[in-house]
Amino acid sequence: MKEYLSDYKGKSILITGGAGCIGSNLTRALIEAEAARIIVLDDLSAAEKWNVPVAPGVVFVEGSILDEEVLKWVFTRKIDYVFHLAAHFANQNSVDHPETDLLVNGTGTLKVLEYAHLTGVEKFVFASSGCSVYGSQAPLPLKEDFVSLHLDTPYQITKLLGELYCNFFYNYYGLPVAIARYFNVYGPGEVPGAYRNVIPNFIYWALQGRPLPITGTGDETRDFTFVDDIVDGTLRLGVTPQAVGDAFNLASEVETKIIDIANLVNEVTGNKSGVEFVARRDWDKIIRRRASIEKAGTVLGYSPDTKVEDGIKRTHSWIIENYDNIKVSAKF
Ligand SMILES: NC(=O)c1ccc[n+]([C@@H]2O[C@H](COP(=O)([O-])OP(=O)(O)OC[C@H]3O[C@@H](n4cnc5c(N)ncnc54)[C@H](O)[C@@H]3O)[C@@H](O)[C@H]2O)c1
Repeated sequence: MKEYLSDYKGKSILITGGAGCIGSNLTRALIEAEAARIIVLDDLSAAEKWNVPVAPGVVFVEGSILDEEVLKWVFTRKIDYVFHLAAHFANQNSVDHPETDLLVNGTGTLKVLEYAHLTGVEKFVFASSGCSVYGSQAPLPLKEDFVSLHLDTPYQITKLLGELYCNFFYNYYGLPVAIARYFNVYGPGEVPGAYRNVIPNFIYWALQGRPLPITGTGDETRDFTFVDDIVDGTLRLGVTPQAVGDAFNLASEVETKIIDIANLVNEVTGNKSGVEFVARRDWDKIIRRRASIEKAGTVLGYSPDTKVEDGIKRTHSWIIENYDNIKVSAKF
């Protein structure tokens, strides 16, 4: 076990959005770290109960971060660490449902921050999005000191809004906040669906023998980051005093073309149907994406090591193992 994890031993932890992809893996890591109690608060609007790890000390609360009664119950359990992951996810979903996006990612984040402040938590970690706050014009590699005010979707706007609220609570109330800027996270725990990420969806379609739809030319790149690396960076953020009041890219620092992802998925799944090209989504203006993780490396000791080939194989195995549940849960 990594040494820094011992800081979580015996602690009481709240993970909002903990039934989702990142949250379920974070829960598992905190069980291994011997946290005394892990409260998973999720309204299951975009996740499944079967995805929540079951273990002594894990308390699943089905409820919304917008519900005062639920928040009062949760925060009177004496929480040490908050990992605020609950969000209305992601770009297309926010274009289709901009008001829900603002409500959950804006008001919801404000409410969780308020309760964290009122009950004096030790640390508040916010899941922001590097794919959002840098916009489409920032120079590569993307570094923490450049954020854009010209964003392309309501989701990108409300992830930046969440960061601004975090900074307010840090500057005005002294709440110990640390911000993680994730990049294209993938891995076990993400159920495919209309508003989900490209890798689980490609695997799901490939398993059905369908051609993989490339929205654009396929030469577009993203900084795909395996969920275990994201969990490691997030947990480091929670226990590093120098991270307080600051934001950190958590990425792989490797640029991968979408066409290469599609070919890899077809190879791993044995899908012979190839790819098909469809129109790029009109809000999708980002051609290339690669983050700098220099700051997270220096301050947090973050050093991701999962190659995309291995990450895709592990995601594929998880989808196969859970296929019966996934077939029922995947919403397209
Ligand atoms: N996955 C990525 O590529 C990525 C990239 C950047 C940032 N992020 C951020 O990381 C966090 C976790 O992402 P994820 O990939 O695990 O997404 P996810 O959709 O799997 O997890 C979010 C969870 O929040 C829950 N939720 C939604 N509204 C809620 C509400 N009102 N109350 C309680 N729970 C609610 C959903 O049911 C879901 O389980 C999110 O904040 C997301 O914006 C993710």
